[in-house]
Amino acid sequence: MANRIMLNETSYHGAGAINEIATEAKARGFRKAFVCSDPDLIRFGVTGKVTKVLEDAAIDYEIYSDIKANPTIENVQNGVAAFKAAKADHIVAIGGGSSMDTAKAIGIIIANPEFEDVRSLEGVAPTKNPCVPIIAVPTTAGTAAEVTINYVITDVERKRKFVCVDPHDMPVVAIVDPDMMATMPKGLTAATGMDALTHAIEGYITKAAWEMTDMFHLKAIEIISRSLRGAVANEKAGRDGMALGQYIAGMGFSNVGLGIAHSMAHTLGAVYDTPHGVACAMMLPIVMAYNAECTGEKYREIARAMGVANVDQMSVEEYRKAAVDAVQQLSIDVGIPTKLSALKEEDLQFLAESAYADACRPGNPKDTSVEDLKELFRKLM
Ligand SMILES: NC(=O)c1ccc[n+]([C@@H]2O[C@H](COP(=O)([O-])OP(=O)(O)OC[C@H]3O[C@@H](n4cnc5c(N)ncnc54)[C@H](O)[C@@H]3O)[C@@H](O)[C@H]2O)c1
Ligand SMILES: [Fe+2]
Repeated sequence: MANRIMLNETSYHGAGAINEIATEAKARGFRKAFVCSDPDLIRFGVTGKVTKVLEDAAIDYEIYSDIKANPTIENVQNGVAAFKAAKADHIVAIGGGSSMDTAKAIGIIIANPEFEDVRSLEGVAPTKNPCVPIIAVPTTAGTAAEVTINYVITDVERKRKFVCVDPHDMPVVAIVDPDMMATMPKGLTAATGMDALTHAIEGYITKAAWEMTDMFHLKAIEIISRSLRGAVANEKAGRDGMALGQYIAGMGFSNVGLGIAHSMAHTLGAVYDTPHGVACAMMLPIVMAYNAECTGEKYREIARAMGVANVDQMSVEEYRKAAVDAVQQLSIDVGIPTKLSALKEEDLQFLAESAYADACRPGNPKDTSVEDLKELFRKLM
């Protein structure tokens, strides 16, 4: 079977990239923007940096901000109604994965109204039409939702987060401007950065990985592991590196999938509202140790990309341990906890079944089971 690669039509990288939004919107003949952003970003003035660019270019816009972290079906449905009322012709998504994913779901349903229940979009959604054109501006580094064909929505009623995979949701333009990420507090920088590392590592070892995506993932692991500590210290080189590294990880994993660290993180997000990056960071070293036996020599390359010395002199056991240790150490250095106090024994069965049903699970290099997932969750207690 041939390998497919899908990326943005256009992307801009570097400080000041947001100024290109006006040029792109005008070149594409857009008249009115539907701005999707969350309430905190509006309060912190992050959204305002972009709406100022729109104002200066005399591009009309309306803001939609009924978006919570781990966005819900209701956030999407209210957004669909607001989009119709706004009579906009494109979406400018400004925020982390939550704002960008909500924007994608809204844009998909506007173009494919038969999916207005949202739930029917789970998995590979058979939509017929490309979504409303999206210009995506990430403010975390990050989910890389600006360059992925995925979005993740929470079903509050059923306590599930579900992944939707649909090439029709790919933003036409991504604006990756590290200045938009500079206001992130330490904890958020650490968590979202570990999410990006999880994308790079799970994407590198996932079943469908191949030479081209390996290139993206190894480069992403290298950039993220050398930049994350600096980003958490709010240093420019660290912020610049994370903006780029998380995007490169997205270029890879979006095209090949992830693994059970994500399945388990989605479940923790749905049940305990655990921030996605924190959940990924806690799961990653545990899942890496579990998967090691099914990864050939890949952990040697992960360890090398993370700056571990003398990997070529190591035995298989040594370099596998070195890779897991390097990830664990980075996570500790940036202040991620290793235990989840909310986790309860009586929830384990539901958590494990839910993670097993997640769309990322089949891509995991090692075939898993509900029982194995239960044991992996137990390690967080
Ligand atoms: N589409 C994908 O491919 C993909 C990949 C991974 C994760 N996700 C999803 O993305 C969501 C998580 O997104 P996220 O981790 O980017 O966080 P988020 O969008 O949920 O935002 C978390 C919090 O950080 C704040 N914030 C964001 N940027 C900020 C900034 N620059 N300064 C100050 N505060 C800021 C927000 O206001 C919010 O309160 C989850 O729902 C996850 O499942 C999607
Ligand atoms: Fe993620």
